[in-house]
Parts: sequence; structure tokens; C-alpha cells
Amino acid sequence: MFKRKDLLGLKDLTKDEITRIISLASDMKRKIDSPHLRDDSLKHSSIVTLFYENSTRTKVSFMMAAGFLGAKINDLGVATSSVNKGETLIDTGMNLDQMGINAMIVRHSMSGAAHVLARNVTSSVINAGDGTNEHPTQALLDLFTIHERLGGFDGIKVAIMGDITHSRVARSNVFGLIKLGAKVVLAGPSTLISESMRTLGAEITTKIPEAVADADVVMGLRIQKEREKAAPFPSLREYSSLFGITPEILKYAKKDALVMHPGPVNRGVELSADVIDGKQSVIYIQVKNGLAVRMAILQLLLGDRSAE
Ligand code: NCD
Repeated sequence: MFKRKDLLGLKDLTKDEITRIISLASDMKRKIDSPHLRDDSLKHSSIVTLFYENSTRTKVSFMMAAGFLGAKINDLGVATSSVNKGETLIDTGMNLDQMGINAMIVRHSMSGAAHVLARNVTSSVINAGDGTNEHPTQALLDLFTIHERLGGFDGIKVAIMGDITHSRVARSNVFGLIKLGAKVVLAGPSTLISESMRTLGAEITTKIPEAVADADVVMGLRIQKEREKAAPFPSLREYSSLFGITPEILKYAKKDALVMHPGPVNRGVELSADVIDGKQSVIYIQVKNGLAVRMAILQLLLGDRSAE
């Protein structure tokens, strides 16, 4: 039984809980390609998405995941809601709670927003990205993809490169990968890496070849211009020539190292186009796996709760 009401981050998930999600996601993946395997197990559940920040993959993926499990899902459409009349996140959540919503999927620019919401509603809350803090479903789909391709985590080296400071994806991945036994190296310009990541157990370097050396996984991250307070480097062209992942850089990694990226990708900035479309890239597989992982999470949070 998955005992949690909410999914807020990988910081507080146990290794067993992560393993459980990964294993259920591989069952769920079969339902994506084979509609006859779908069983409407969440037909009594109602879900709302509240996205206060932009999204392509995460929101659509949750919508599809809910639909494949037979749940009813609506998008609050924050841009046209009473949020624009000054309603707070908590008030919005408490109103939705009264309508019998079973899960709220929230993305917000404030770190900790999902946690605040979760404390104030009886519905389950799923964090779809809170500021620079965590993005648990992205990290879980990354972990699922690594597990599917490499068979496990013990002793593998994962190099995560780019805008580490602003990346909730990097933070959630560090929590998860370290718990599962992987070694994590974070790399990028010194202006985009905060030393505090070391205390989470990751290594830090500004030297890309050193980060990528013998890596099993090379993960690029987007430069999050929308979160920058000051320009962290002179130009995108300079960034890509010093820190971009190119076929030459990939040669430092293990021969069949996986190339990953959470999207959206800035082609030619963090990854060159031939790396994005190359045979080591699993970037589009990550998107499909994201759907499977979100189906697993909805099933664990809502299926088990409704059976109680
Ligand atoms: C990420 C996010 O929103 O944190 N995207 C995603 O969910 N796939 C990464 C990003 O925006 O760069």
C-alpha cells in the first residue's frame, strides 16, 4: 500500500517508494500502446491541474495519464480563473476541495507552493514543479528511463549539465539518484551552480570533459532565463561553445551513454542538434515514459486511497 496523500518531492520519498513507482510504471507503459489493457481503475476520481507556469509535456502528460485510467480531469486554466482577481493558492485549493476533487496537480513559481497547498486541502496534491525546488514526476520519469535502459543504478555515473542553480529537475534527480546508489556530477558555469548541491551528495565541476568522463548518462538542462536575476554568462553562443554537449564532448562518456534532457530543449544551446537527434538520445522516450510514470503515480495515490 502506498500510504502517502501527496507527492511533493524526492527528498522525502524512500528508496522502496521510488522502486515501487518505477516498477508500476513499467506495467503502465504497456497500457499506452495497448488500449485493451486499460481498465478505468480511477473512474471515480476527479483531478484538476493548476499550472501557474507554462508547460507542454508535464500538463498534457498528466491529462493523458488520467484519461488512460478513466479519471475525470480538468485544467483550471489559471490565466482565466479567479487567480487574476487576487485569489490565493490556498483559497483556490480550499474551493476545489469542496467540489470533491481528489487530486490537484500544481505547478508554481514559488518554491514550497505544493507543500503549502497540501497542508491546507484534503485532496491529494502532486507537485508538477515548484520554483527551483523540486519536480518529482520529471525525476521519476528520468529514473524510470535510466532503469529501463541500464537495468539499475548501483555505481553508475550520471553527469547533469547546464543551469543547475535554477533547476528543480536537477535537485529532484540528485535526491533520487543518490538514494538509489548512483554517482552524480553536476557541471556548468560557476555562476549557475550553487555549492549547496555538494551537501546533497553530488560532485561539482566547471570542467565539462571531467564531468562527462566515463559517464553512463549525460543529462542536459535548459538555461532558465526566466529565473535569472543577472546574466550568468556573456552570450548563448559563448555558453554553447564552452558548455554545450556536442558529439566531441560525448566521446568522453561511455560508448553507449544515454543522452537525456527534460525539455524544452534549446537546440544548439545546451545540446547540439546532432546529439538531440542522435542514436544515444532517449529524449523522446523520456516523454513516453513520463506518461507511464504519471499513470503509476495517479494509481498509487488515488487507487489506494479510494480503496481505503
Ligand atoms: C522542466 C521544468 O519545468 O522544470 N520542464 C519539464 O517539466 N519538462 C525543465 C525546464 O523548464 O527547463
